[in-house]
Amino acid sequence: MSNENPIGLFDSGVGGTSIWREIHTLLPNENTIYLADSKNAPYGVKSKDEIIELSFKNTEFLLEQNCKIIVVACNTATTNAIQELRQKYNVPFIGIEPAIKPAANQSKTHKIGILATKGTLNSELFHEKAKNFTDVNIIEQIGHGLVQLIEEGSINSPEMTELLESYLEPMIKQNIDYLVLGCSHYPYLIPQIEKILPQNIKIIDSGEAVAKQTKSILDQKGLLKNSTNSTQFFYTNVNPTVLQNILGSNKNVNYLDF
Ligand code: SIN
Repeated sequence: MSNENPIGLFDSGVGGTSIWREIHTLLPNENTIYLADSKNAPYGVKSKDEIIELSFKNTEFLLEQNCKIIVVACNTATTNAIQELRQKYNVPFIGIEPAIKPAANQSKTHKIGILATKGTLNSELFHEKAKNFTDVNIIEQIGHGLVQLIEEGSINSPEMTELLESYLEPMIKQNIDYLVLGCSHYPYLIPQIEKILPQNIKIIDSGEAVAKQTKSILDQKGLLKNSTNSTQFFYTNVNPTVLQNILGSNKNVNYLDF
């Protein structure tokens, strides 16, 4: 494996680009390939077996492109399939898990909220991790419908505002002081969420931590790329307009039938 080989990322759709941005900011010299499986979004309502099968398919595409490390830029795929991925493929995987730890450690009210998909909140891995935090009350909320609206490009729609209000207001009433965004799509909703939350409630997502972890694993394995002039490729299996709009017109977005 050469350190010139790309970092591969996959997600159920456009949301994992929030993770790609953090990785590209921290590691601008690295070549990256991002795969958006938007045709199968949302993963959050699928069974564990379906999520594993889709994660295998995405991984195989990225391995065909000689990726040196794979970032599962999707909380639902991480919490349901990361163990199976690590067992099956001989490549390092970075997963993305809800940032419960920093929220729990800093909470003064000892109440934190988590907004995530049904697939993440119902997963064994999430419950295993959550039970370590006995001194905080974790208020879970499934973000039904949010991923679909983001995938449709309806981030700023009245329907989005209505859904967010209905999910966040009960948490505000319960006196949370941290809101954990447990889905890589949700950072795109931060401006909307900030309009609803009072200022004392802080929002935490996992993007920066995932980027640092990616750097650290590449470093440990001697796989960091030294040369500049990196390439960034994005693939989607639906009409590329939403992904292109999220990334900006200077990014290389391609349609791929997979
Ligand atoms: C989904 O596809 O339902 C959301 C992806 C995620 O959990 O990050």
